[in-house]
Amino acid sequence: MSKKLYIKTLGCAMNVRDSEHIIAELNKREPYKLTSEISEADLIIINTCSVREKPVSKLFSEIGVFRKYKKDNAKIGVTGCTASHLGEEIIKKAPIVDFVLGARNVSKLSKVIDRRHSVEVDLDYDDSNYSFGEYRSNRYKAMVNISMGCDKSCTYCIVPATRGKEVSIPPNLIVQEVRRAVEGGAKEVILLGQNVNNYGKYFSATGERLNFTGLLRKISLINGLERIRFASPHPLHMDDEFLEEFAFNPKICKQIHIPLQSGSTKVLRDMKRGYTKEWFLNRCAKVKELSPEVSISTDIIVGFPNESDEDFADTLDVLEQVRFNQLFSFKYSPRPHTKAATYPNQIPDEVASERLKILQNRHKEILDEIMSSQVGKVYSVYFDELKSGGKISGRSDDGKLFFVNGSEELLGEIKDVKVTKSARWALEGEVIN
Ligand code: 5AD
Ligand code: SF4
Repeated sequence: MSKKLYIKTLGCAMNVRDSEHIIAELNKREPYKLTSEISEADLIIINTCSVREKPVSKLFSEIGVFRKYKKDNAKIGVTGCTASHLGEEIIKKAPIVDFVLGARNVSKLSKVIDRRHSVEVDLDYDDSNYSFGEYRSNRYKAMVNISMGCDKSCTYCIVPATRGKEVSIPPNLIVQEVRRAVEGGAKEVILLGQNVNNYGKYFSATGERLNFTGLLRKISLINGLERIRFASPHPLHMDDEFLEEFAFNPKICKQIHIPLQSGSTKVLRDMKRGYTKEWFLNRCAKVKELSPEVSISTDIIVGFPNESDEDFADTLDVLEQVRFNQLFSFKYSPRPHTKAATYPNQIPDEVASERLKILQNRHKEILDEIMSSQVGKVYSVYFDELKSGGKISGRSDDGKLFFVNGSEELLGEIKDVKVTKSARWALEGEVIN
């Protein structure tokens, strides 16, 4: 009987992909079946995130739950970003943990799994040339890493301290992986990196060198691949060449995540983002000019140290001008190893909460305006997930979530769908051909 794995994944898409790599690496050694019951598992892994939450206390209470429900001989592993920055401390505080494996150390899984209390958290460990085993939680849409780490130093962000310096994965490995995913049934890929459009600045191996635009062109030549998405580009590196490729390459989905963080040039400077409010607006205007059907999503932080009412008004102004289709908004959270955590004038929680509420309410109004005008429109939808109640879900080229009545025969298919009903976060429709 095969062993059972319980794996809990927190955080971003890169962590989700890391969990797939973890499963693939385990399966190279012996087959594991996934379970959602801690008490059934032979191996329990928590793949952690440290970007905003209070990850430390949360991690140890989670380990407490594992200890309570696990089988006697089950092993516990802590992986991901909190593993990276706490390292050995985790085992000192919770000796029940069997191993600690930092983000970007996943290829060392074999090394730690049988060595009790081993810790591998090398920040700059380079597995950019490593060929991971194949495991995908959804074979219709494939996540593919194109780079690891981050070469920026945004003053609020812990990521450079957990995922290390930026290194790009060689184009031939990426193409090979996309090809394999397409052979396995994926018509869509999502290319992942901290700053995807900084791709190609540094490779650790010799061989072909491409920038992000070049990589997009190369990937789009793959037969059978119909849709390319990516997350996330950095506004600073959105040059015209990239925006033209985005607009005119028919395989690139017209959905783009452009993380604003703040609409105030002063706050952006304090965050060390490298662009101004005007540059951000200019890039969004250019995207819309070249791709009028585009959906733009963003990330915004409110309550960054020293953020004044005027600064926040600038953020609202950008929201008003760009009318984002999706907003991920957060209260600033001081993180260890970051510069902004030491800044004076930290903003009181009540003020940040109030700003977050204002921002989110205005975004919801904008979204309602956008979504309520959708009924009757026709979108090309790629169906990628079966849902309960005889429904199937998919996404339009511009990233809108659709639910229609249907079953297996639609999985992996791209169909024209007419919108019959709209809600704030999703649309219902019927297949018309
Ligand atoms: N506080 C609040 N939000 C943060 N993010 C990153 N670091 C912090 C922080 N310290 C947000 C940013 C980023 C997203 C992934 O998380 O908006 O784009
Ligand atoms: Fe963090 Fe900035 Fe890197 Fe994004 S680009 S991960 S916000 S440091």
